[in-house]
Amino acid sequence: MTVPEFVKAKAEGRRLSVLTAYDCLWASILDDAGVDAILVGDSLSMVVQGHRTTLPVTLDQMIYHGEIVTRSVKNTLVIVDLPFMSYQVSSRQAVRNAGRIFKETGAQAVKLEGGVNQAKTIEKLSECDLPVMAHVGMRPQSVHKLGKMSAIQRDEDELLKDAKAAESAGAFAIVLELIPAEIAKVISAEISIPTIGIGAGPHCDGQVLVGPDMFGLSGFQPKFLKKYADIRNIALDATKEFVADVQAGRFPDESHSH
Ligand code: KIV
Repeated sequence: MTVPEFVKAKAEGRRLSVLTAYDCLWASILDDAGVDAILVGDSLSMVVQGHRTTLPVTLDQMIYHGEIVTRSVKNTLVIVDLPFMSYQVSSRQAVRNAGRIFKETGAQAVKLEGGVNQAKTIEKLSECDLPVMAHVGMRPQSVHKLGKMSAIQRDEDELLKDAKAAESAGAFAIVLELIPAEIAKVISAEISIPTIGIGAGPHCDGQVLVGPDMFGLSGFQPKFLKKYADIRNIALDATKEFVADVQAGRFPDESHSH
């Protein structure tokens, strides 16, 4: 999957599947399963590092995980998030840091949060031929302005302006996070690049979920999330069984001994 193929999917009416991953085990599973793109999201700050927000993860840490994921896939497009304060200072800062992501991870695209407010930066990145995905609606890096991560964004005019500004500036796709389904439908019809929804209803051109949430690893269960597996409980039961076997002397037995 390349960026142009990802963009073409919208014109061809083919819906896009995107999941987050941060390491080689999960990246290779998603790749084998045929997901269109893997996002090395700054959600790794929460689901991997255990922070309460996405703000603490650093650029070096994003690059570390981005390189692992890119090296672990054969077909899937890899997009790496520009973390908090790695692009907001200036377009020059954004180009320098996005450049590091492309050079050091091998990913094909970066994502940043913003629409109208980041249009100049999206334009600058695009001028440098660095494909950029925008992210409008609920923007987790703005958590302290919004007051909470789960704030649904309902201002249709503002959302449409953000999406159109990102498209005009050269973004190749846009994440729509936590917005009403009807507004996502309007935006998806009004712009020509793919909209990738999370908590934005069924009318987007594609859907993204945080891998550890949809596999039931994180315990996070918002209304928009469909849990496709319950891996936390499977791992919990397996671990309890191992502990009990070791304590009872059942493991290792003869079949596991040399
Ligand atoms: O960081 C992330 O995982 C994201 C998705 C929620 C879209 O930005």
